[in-house]
Amino acid sequence: MTRIRKAVFPVAGLGSRFLPATKAQPKEMLPIVDRPLIQYAVEEAVAAGITELIFVTGRNKRAIEDHFDKAYELESELEASNKQQLLEIVRNVIPKNVNCIYTRQPAALGLGHAVLCARSIVGNEPFAVVLADDFMDASKPVLAQMTERYDYERASLLAVQDVPREHTRQYGIVSAAPYREQMEIVNGIVEKPNPEVAPSTLAVVGRYVLSNRIFEFLENLGAGAGGEIQLTDGIAALLKAERVLAYRYEGQRYDCGSKLGYLKATVAMGMKHPETGEGFRQYLSELEVCK
Ligand code: G1P
Repeated sequence: MTRIRKAVFPVAGLGSRFLPATKAQPKEMLPIVDRPLIQYAVEEAVAAGITELIFVTGRNKRAIEDHFDKAYELESELEASNKQQLLEIVRNVIPKNVNCIYTRQPAALGLGHAVLCARSIVGNEPFAVVLADDFMDASKPVLAQMTERYDYERASLLAVQDVPREHTRQYGIVSAAPYREQMEIVNGIVEKPNPEVAPSTLAVVGRYVLSNRIFEFLENLGAGAGGEIQLTDGIAALLKAERVLAYRYEGQRYDCGSKLGYLKATVAMGMKHPETGEGFRQYLSELEVCK
């Protein structure tokens, strides 16, 4: 039985919505309290038992590689000044049994193309795709919920949530038929439809478990919505050949590709963080009084 061991992190995007913050640093390195977005995404994958992390990078993404690499100078300085706690934080960014693999997407041709760039590294097995922009706060990590379902169903899975109809043009939207609790069988998927033509309001968010056959379909795709090679179009072809399931995950998603979503995530995590939680909650309650 093939367990999901590999996750693809498409991180080649320009992050133009966060300029100028992303002029010289990747958007995936923007922090929520004290950890960059990409670290949360990686931790979620590791919690799902994934041991091979495949980053599809682009220009200006060196900081991501450095973040998951050993930081010799920093470590020796912290060691010399006996800052054990910080040393542990720096050393434990990633568990020892986990490998990071980097490949470049030579041009920004779309999410489907980014995933296709990982083909030879993924090899011949099912895999996960994690979009770090979609920040998930869940008591059981969302990807772990999905790999567990995968182990049972042996079918591709898309994380989905209901969105207001006026937002359909921000997402891949599925049409689906009831299947099991929290799950539906996908019979159609379309990228960023206008509200008038959207087949439903069930939107795909950035967690996927995909059958290896997706690559066959991605390889033969032309440009789709926005002139890009869309993962959604690959999935639309895949579901004609194999079962694809939509999974209504448990947890709260924050769209950290948008400023407002990013701020909401920061507030939510700031309130929970062991160091800041108490003081931040107190501060927010004082703000309430000021209203
Ligand atoms: C991508 C996908 C879209 C999906 C979304 C989830 O869009 O193309 O199908 O619904 O992620 O966040 P993007 O947000 O990169 O434009």
